[in-house]
Amino acid sequence: MIDFLVANFNLIRGLHIIFVMAWIAGMLILPRLFVYHMKAAPGSDMDGVFKLAELRTMRIIINPAMILAFAMGLLLVLADSRIRGWSFLLQPWMLTKLAALVFLFGWHGFMSKARKRFAADQNTRSEKFWRMTNELPFVAAIIIVLSVTTKFLNH
Ligand code: HEM
Repeated sequence: MIDFLVANFNLIRGLHIIFVMAWIAGMLILPRLFVYHMKAAPGSDMDGVFKLAELRTMRIIINPAMILAFAMGLLLVLADSRIRGWSFLLQPWMLTKLAALVFLFGWHGFMSKARKRFAADQNTRSEKFWRMTNELPFVAAIIIVLSVTTKFLNH
């Protein structure tokens, strides 16, 4: 099994990156939908359109992409345990990535709860809040991508 993963490391890494793109893209678009949703009167046609768009963005893009990115990430961890040894999990670049991942998973859960509140006409956050926090997953993505690609080395 691990031999197979090592042999296909580059393919799995590519799939990992593709699913990560979809996960982050979904988390960047959802707060945009919230911002415009707030301009729609509750019960109006527009309100219904935004509720459906938010539901679909969560169920069709964000959740499946997260599961697949995570699954490919776990396969890469298994392959890396053979390539680098398990100690790679404690190297600074990986610890940095794990810290940013904790944030991303937390943000995912937070957005999921927020979507449910919007669906129940119970949003409590301001438009300013969603505009200001909109870029947080992107900041986490920058930290993750640069820590894995550079591994804090110059070569
Ligand atoms: C969901 C949990 C995740 C796990 C368990 C995970 C795990 C891994 C592992 C073990 C590697 C191989 C590292 C190497 O040997 O170079 C990897 C590669 C990579 N990961 Fe993740 N990852 C996760 C999420 C993410 C996220 C959220 C991002 C971006 C926002 C990301 C971006 C990347 C990139 C760009 C690579 C390729 C790095 C390279 O080869 O230069 N990963 N991931």
